[in-house]
Amino acid sequence: MLENLPIVQGDPLWALLHQFNADQRDHKIDMLVGVYRDETGQTPVMQQVQKAEQKLAAVAESKSYKMLSGNLEFNDHMAKFLLGDSERFSDQCTIQTVGGSGALRVIADFVATLSPDAVIWNTNPGYLNHRPIMEGAGLNVEPFRWQHVGGVLDIEACFEDLEQAKEGDILLLHGSCHNPSGVDPSLAQWQQFIDFCLAKKVVPFIDIAYQGFGDGPEEDAAGLRLFVEQVDFMLVAASCSKNMGLYCERTGVAMVITNDHSQHAPLRTLLERITRANYSMPPNHGAAVASLLFSDPEPWLAELSVCRERINDLRKALGNLLLEMNAPVSLQAVTRQKGMFSLLPLTPEQMTALREKHAIYGMLNGRINIAGLKQAQVSYLAKALVDVMKSEC
Ligand SMILES: Cc1ncc(COP(=O)(O)O)c(C=O)c1O
Repeated sequence: MLENLPIVQGDPLWALLHQFNADQRDHKIDMLVGVYRDETGQTPVMQQVQKAEQKLAAVAESKSYKMLSGNLEFNDHMAKFLLGDSERFSDQCTIQTVGGSGALRVIADFVATLSPDAVIWNTNPGYLNHRPIMEGAGLNVEPFRWQHVGGVLDIEACFEDLEQAKEGDILLLHGSCHNPSGVDPSLAQWQQFIDFCLAKKVVPFIDIAYQGFGDGPEEDAAGLRLFVEQVDFMLVAASCSKNMGLYCERTGVAMVITNDHSQHAPLRTLLERITRANYSMPPNHGAAVASLLFSDPEPWLAELSVCRERINDLRKALGNLLLEMNAPVSLQAVTRQKGMFSLLPLTPEQMTALREKHAIYGMLNGRINIAGLKQAQVSYLAKALVDVMKSEC
């Protein structure tokens, strides 16, 4: 068997991370990994999460198996968090998953079971794991361009590429804080995607992994909620990794929305059959913590707003400096982008120069995690960016 073992390329992110750890320069900056960092460079456990964990430990609830759909209270809270006070609450069928990635895979398996010929239309550039997850479920993936003009999504380019989408295909969109570009549609552009889905009978699939990291939890769900108001059938994958800092607790949900309630029982059964055949049921700890946070959300939302404001302040400070320095306009777009990530308009050679000459680590495709930065490093980064953009590489 092992003679068939393929030589697979390691993940480029982890290779760069090893390089970062081995780098002896004191002023090195890690803008690689997609986790939130505070001003001290830590990825802290939120205080409300710690409190919830203490509460849970004191109660020491039984570790007996939960339902196949996971923690039902958590699922209800998540549906409300995602949909707001939508009249369509009763149209959703939600199951707990192993993080947002688990939600993506469960929905991919769901689509592959019911509609194996559906093509998944995926933003390019996009989240690195979307394609492997979809293809892992046996689905075909096609890219469509996701680029900006002066910081605004170039929707003409999207629709040019989506021209070939056929009835029953899936349009995979990021709910907010697009990874890796930070470029989100305006509300008017969300409406254009809705009109497209309705006209072409394409199914929307929204992956929302950063609700609360852009403009706020309500604002960041506005596109998703606009879809929910107008589209009978849609798919949602959501994660609590970032907005609750529950990364390794693997907490998320998969949601199917349909106004045909006669389909709710069979579709829940199918979702549960998919998870049963994979991992049976998701771990409970993160969902139990999240349920406590949702039951008294204000203190948690206040902590979340500190994270969001830190990122937005860093973006503003960087953008202002780049403006003062007369940096290329394409670089200044960083202020208009949302969430942790931005895609720098730099070539792989320029990203390498940024690393080798200035000890600033980002992905070769230009992706940087703004949250990896400290206020005191903003000016150093701005000067380094202008320097590598001037160079001939
Ligand atoms: C767009 C997007 N979707 C899904 C995920 C996966 O989230 P999780 O860590 O909860 O699996 C991520 C994580 O980086 C992401 O950026």
